[in-house]
Amino acid sequence: MAVAEFINKVLQGDCLEVMKNFESGSIDMVLTSPPYDNLRNYKGYVFPFEAIARELYRVVKDGGVVVWIVGDATIEGSETGTSFKQSLFFKEIGFNLHDTMIFRKRNPIPQIYRRRYNNEFEYMFVLSKGQVATHNPLMIDCLHAGLKLNGTTYKNYSKHEQRRAKMAKPVKDQKIKGNIWEYVVGKNLEDQEAKGHPAPFPCELARDHIYSWSNEGDLILDPMCGSGTTCKVARQLGRKFIGIDISQEYCEIARNRLCTANDVQAQLPLEAANLFRRTR
Ligand SMILES: C[S@@+](CC[C@H](N)C(=O)[O-])C[C@H]1O[C@@H](n2cnc3c(N)ncnc32)[C@H](O)[C@@H]1O
Repeated sequence: MAVAEFINKVLQGDCLEVMKNFESGSIDMVLTSPPYDNLRNYKGYVFPFEAIARELYRVVKDGGVVVWIVGDATIEGSETGTSFKQSLFFKEIGFNLHDTMIFRKRNPIPQIYRRRYNNEFEYMFVLSKGQVATHNPLMIDCLHAGLKLNGTTYKNYSKHEQRRAKMAKPVKDQKIKGNIWEYVVGKNLEDQEAKGHPAPFPCELARDHIYSWSNEGDLILDPMCGSGTTCKVARQLGRKFIGIDISQEYCEIARNRLCTANDVQAQLPLEAANLFRRTR
């Protein structure tokens, strides 16, 4: 079997087994959020992380990106650190840890006080197979647009290029967005369709990543697609998709979401779809 047979489908199965059918280097981008630390009771939970990570490395194209969205449980007073262990394992098998991004929840679930601050974020590890081939940066308005600054310089975090350049005068209207992204979880109308799944991520988050790391016509894989958020948004943005989930029930939610007429953006060319994007 070839990857072509699975395009624009939601497949029920263990992603490790399903991915074995894909040719090496056939996927442009992966966006997924795995089950972590047995935190939630997903139906049919099997999660051989290391084998899945290796299979992802095989199926992703050179220059392709895996966005791995994960957090840690706190067990007996200590965070597990599973997120970090996973990101370091991805590095060990050949991925670049391209960017450690933060998904900040604007409406975090209230937690019982345990002498620590409320947890309100997850990691979004952006892993690349070699140099990232596609980056369509999201832009935001500059706080000091138009202001004339004196003597301020760009900061360069790269080890080998410590060059500094004078900042533009006056300050530009827009700049590339930072790597902490904030979303309201579960409240937007488009996210309501995912009800029935315990942990969907916001459509807007999927939109921001898919737009950033892929181009129209690219093939996006979510190997643990749950309610199908990645698939739905990939289609809206003119990308192809493959969704896999081990649970038949969640696959049904995903397929139903793909059937709804609520895909306003799906009928629009990408440029028009981008008008939906807001700057933050
Ligand atoms: C955090 S949820 C994903 C939610 C998804 N991003 C969404 O927006 O709905 C993780 C999913 O992984 C699925 N899963 C767990 N083990 C799996 C496996 N081995 N293969 C495929 N899916 C798996 C679970 O059924 C669950 O739906």
